[in-house]
Amino acid sequence: MTTVIEKQRETITAHGGTLVNRELTGSERDKAIEAAKNYPSLTINKWGISDLELIAIGGFSPLTGFLGEKDYLSVVENVHLADGTVWSIPITLAVTEQEADKLTVGSSVSLYGEDGILYGILELQEKFYYDKQKEAQSVYGTTDDSHPGVKKLYEKGEVYLAGPIQLVNRPEHEGFEDFYLDPIETRQLFADLGWKTVVGFQTRNPVHRAHEYIQKIALESVDGLLLNPLVGETKSDDIPADIRMESYQAILKHYYPKDRTRLVIYPAAMRYAGPREAVLHALVRKNYGCTHFIVGRDHAGVGDFYGTYEAQEFISQFEDELGIQIFKFEHAFYCSKCENMATQKTCPHDKSDHVHLSGTKVREKLRNGEPLPRQFSRPEVAEILIKGLQRG
Ligand code: ADX
Repeated sequence: MTTVIEKQRETITAHGGTLVNRELTGSERDKAIEAAKNYPSLTINKWGISDLELIAIGGFSPLTGFLGEKDYLSVVENVHLADGTVWSIPITLAVTEQEADKLTVGSSVSLYGEDGILYGILELQEKFYYDKQKEAQSVYGTTDDSHPGVKKLYEKGEVYLAGPIQLVNRPEHEGFEDFYLDPIETRQLFADLGWKTVVGFQTRNPVHRAHEYIQKIALESVDGLLLNPLVGETKSDDIPADIRMESYQAILKHYYPKDRTRLVIYPAAMRYAGPREAVLHALVRKNYGCTHFIVGRDHAGVGDFYGTYEAQEFISQFEDELGIQIFKFEHAFYCSKCENMATQKTCPHDKSDHVHLSGTKVREKLRNGEPLPRQFSRPEVAEILIKGLQRG
């Protein structure tokens, strides 16, 4: 059985050297589904299913399963897997003690989604207790449960299950089917387009003028842009993915060169882990075939938990090991005196000349149906957001 394959057409080497493929197809899949009926079963939430999918399709290469204790501790304490490969966020499968007690190390476990679908199989190699406070402090930089990632961590079961996985059914990405490509496919796409250099852009927000500005600066130096919005679980006050997807299509249509941009979803859950998540985001985009990745202001941040450039400083420590080039951008804004987008690096004017809107302010305006200033958002985007958010 081929579980790990190296694709001839790879332009940039996957993280760890090989693009992982843990998806079963054809008769192997049929046999696995049949066998899974006799395994003990576990129901895992959407976040778990999205991790399972990303491992299986190679997005999380070199991981072939949920982390064992040695790798887990190494990632939490040293930002590397036990074999020395840089990795910043532990990808784990938590269960309650009662659930763990029912499962035997050395056996297989059927992994079902909350929708009752069998998604995968875990070869259970380890069960271990973990220290939530330690994980919170190391990965999120805080033990404060007002941090959405930490809150999720505290809500999880006490035991991690570990071992290699196999995927038998991919989760559906309803409404986003046209924008779903796996890493093998994005690599092929870039090759077909003749893109030798591709910049990946992570986002969990609509594309505003500042995003557009930094993307386009990057586009001056590379062949193509992969707009790769995260569409997995986000916190409740983030703008829902379906509304954002509509807005991405609108901005691409009206303001981007068609032959140099592609929109593909990133089906992961958002951790809000700032610096650590910036590293994960970069590694995943490398697995999707990007050669460059953008880290701007407060990447993957939330509230005031991280400094504006903390993610950039953190990722800089690993730049030699990442294998993907990082484009770092300062906080960008519209300056009414420059009559242009700018940053402190390019604008001499006073802060009072800069258009700034907080996320909260933006959401408030949109919910009230108020247009956003053109200096902040393209009107086509604002219009979609207003309609979307007023929908309820
Ligand atoms: S994130 O949580 O996915 O990072 P967001 O969608 O807001 O949030 O940001 C996407 C990318 O754009 C990140 O790299 C972020 O650092 C960058 N970014 C967002 N706003 C700005 C800005 N005003 N100036 C510079 N970079 C920005």
